[in-house]
Amino acid sequence: MITKPKGTYDIFYQEASSWKKLEQTLTSFFAKWNVSYIRTPLFENSELFRRKNDFSEVVQKQTYDFTDKGGRSLTLRPEGTAGVVRAIIENKLYVDTHSNKFYYFGPNYRYERPQKGRFREFYQFGVEVIGDKNYLVDTEIIDMVHQLCVSLGLDVTIKLNYLGGLDTIKKYSDELKNYFTPLANELCQDCQQRLHQNPLRIIDCKIDSQKETITKNLPQLTSFYDSNTKEYFTNITKMLQTLNIPFIVDPLTVRGLDYYTDIVFEVISNKTGQTLAGGGRYDNLISELGGPKLGAIGFAFGCERILSEVEFIEDSDLDYYVLANPAEACYSYDIVSRLRKLNKIIKFDFSNRNFNKKLKDGLEQNPHYLIFIGTDEVSKKTVTIKDTKTTTQVTISKNEFINKLECETNV
Ligand code: HAM
Repeated sequence: MITKPKGTYDIFYQEASSWKKLEQTLTSFFAKWNVSYIRTPLFENSELFRRKNDFSEVVQKQTYDFTDKGGRSLTLRPEGTAGVVRAIIENKLYVDTHSNKFYYFGPNYRYERPQKGRFREFYQFGVEVIGDKNYLVDTEIIDMVHQLCVSLGLDVTIKLNYLGGLDTIKKYSDELKNYFTPLANELCQDCQQRLHQNPLRIIDCKIDSQKETITKNLPQLTSFYDSNTKEYFTNITKMLQTLNIPFIVDPLTVRGLDYYTDIVFEVISNKTGQTLAGGGRYDNLISELGGPKLGAIGFAFGCERILSEVEFIEDSDLDYYVLANPAEACYSYDIVSRLRKLNKIIKFDFSNRNFNKKLKDGLEQNPHYLIFIGTDEVSKKTVTIKDTKTTTQVTISKNEFINKLECETNV
């Protein structure tokens, strides 16, 4: 038997309905927030992810890279932001400042060690907003994240941190290097490398066993803020308080991707402790990818993680479950076909199975009505209909039944 690749999964039945429902909830949410849908390719030219200063481990170690038959170096996208920014620049979408918010939904690929909530193919939905840097935009994005969690029924904590500009990050990183160097032996192998490339990432390492001890006397990022930085961050937090949006400021939230500056945030599940979403400002990425000097901010949620937290129960869509005697399939099929023309959703069971088994399956699928068609119904040209809610059952003429439905649907 050929099995699915490691770190992937199949979706069907109830779980497939939950995915559909999640997508529907998001579609109506983003319509209300006036966010445009954007779809970009699953693979991009590798150079999009391998930018000159890219030390992020996602890009260094986790991408699925391949060469196509034309010798091009391509990469399956490990996240949505870079592709969306590429599309915004290439299609000059930044010109229309009235429509500068984009959302996406789709699969991403990272060569990770699969575990609970961590896959090699996983779905994200996210939002990217292009435009000037403004604390009101940052507030609006965090508000959107909060409202999304409410709409999806997620019980979460939003953690914020403020990294400041490139200058502040550089100074703080140098200070962290000095701080962690004498502790190098207590760091995991990855962090020993991070010490040279991106010391900031040591802070949110999930492996370092002595995490609490080694971060106890951590230099304070806030001591590197200048007055503008302080004011900008205070504006965001004040605004969030005014809007009653709950959050905590967490100096250990630094994010894993290289492009962040200024505000960064993560959404943590209060139920399981897993990180459901992450995001922040990335004001240098657009110009780094050849676009104009424009600010940008965004976030992405992991869909598998959301669906492991909340169950989306769909109301049954099934109008009629038709239990037919296979010997009378022609008579039954005529009814089924006419009901389908009236846009009714039908499950037609004309199998040879035992009647009670068919009935049990039918009830499990939660249809609005059961229709029984046996020898009696065929000889008298009738149908027997049972309302599954009220359990009332009637036998009526086939033509009367269809005519009544046709009148109701104005056909
Ligand atoms: P990220 O933190 O790498 O950020 O991913 C965002 C979310 O995707 C995570 O919080 C998690 O829920 C989910 N996720 C990530 N990796 C996996 C995986 N291997 N399996 C299952 N779920 C996963 C980004 O991707 C940024 N592009 C977010 C962003 C958008 N920043 C600005 N705009």
